[in-house]
Amino acid sequence: MTDSLFGRMRLGYVLIESCRQDAWQRFAKEGLGLHVETARDGVLAVRVDDRQRRIVVRPGPAEDVVATGWQVDDGDALDLALARLRALGLGPERLPGPEAALRGIDEGWRCRGPKGTFIELFTDASAQRTDAPLRMRASGFVTGASGLGHMAITSREPEAMERFWVEAFDARLSDRIEDRLSGVTMDFAFLRLNERHHSIAIASTRGLRFDPMRTSIHHLNLQAASFDDVVQGYRQCRALGYPIASAIGQHPNDKELSFYVQSPSDFEIELGWNPLTVSAEDEKTWQPGAYRGISLWGHFPENLTLGLKARQFGRGLLSLTRREHQVGDAA
Ligand SMILES: [Fe+2]
Repeated sequence: MTDSLFGRMRLGYVLIESCRQDAWQRFAKEGLGLHVETARDGVLAVRVDDRQRRIVVRPGPAEDVVATGWQVDDGDALDLALARLRALGLGPERLPGPEAALRGIDEGWRCRGPKGTFIELFTDASAQRTDAPLRMRASGFVTGASGLGHMAITSREPEAMERFWVEAFDARLSDRIEDRLSGVTMDFAFLRLNERHHSIAIASTRGLRFDPMRTSIHHLNLQAASFDDVVQGYRQCRALGYPIASAIGQHPNDKELSFYVQSPSDFEIELGWNPLTVSAEDEKTWQPGAYRGISLWGHFPENLTLGLKARQFGRGLLSLTRREHQVGDAA
């Protein structure tokens, strides 16, 4: 048994709390082209592959991602991950049965991670899969060993956040990007847990650290099977009036082609195609790169209104008055 978790875990699901179920249903189905089912109690269950629940939207006031679920390979990997969390003083606790069922898993464990969002762990089981055909516009999504996609998180404590993912789960640095956006120098770190170039991206402002985001994540990325899916998603989201945060463009590091659209709970969804992977062979020689500019081309903001800028500025200022939740802080 190896004592590393690298390559043995991946993003499994995202739990969202929102009171805008109708808006989420339309956005996910007609905007993004995903398979959406309305379960009991107003819960939305979104599929992109054979797993029964990849994105769960449960009724509630947060309008945010409240938990991210990480699938680990087997019992050994789970024991190791739980031991790491215990060593960090995070005392992971077992999810109550109904909570596990809500997420479409048999059993799971959770603790509060950086910024206070729940990090949850589970192992795979065939009961979580379904043979029922997908009813969605998109041709498919790339998941499998590399998981659901990636998340990007803004942080005022990026070093601590990066350390958490390395110490808890053996994340590896893929590369870094710096860019100057709206007059502010930003640093981005891209961490991988498996062959996906990054499962976690951490964004921070250089110098005075502030966080303009209300939500726990900046965006959730889904990897479409074809570029046509991305183009159709972009055109459909635009036609339906969803705010396009960034039009289609390409990132310099993983070369993914993508666009960003604002979800009904404010954080963004990035729909992308064809990011490069770090294969087992590449792992032997991979050196973290450093890039200037978050995009090679495109990704132009289509909805950066003065009102939005003012709100972000206000939230950024407000963030200076509060300490960001750190792992190990009391809830
Ligand atoms: Fe992204």
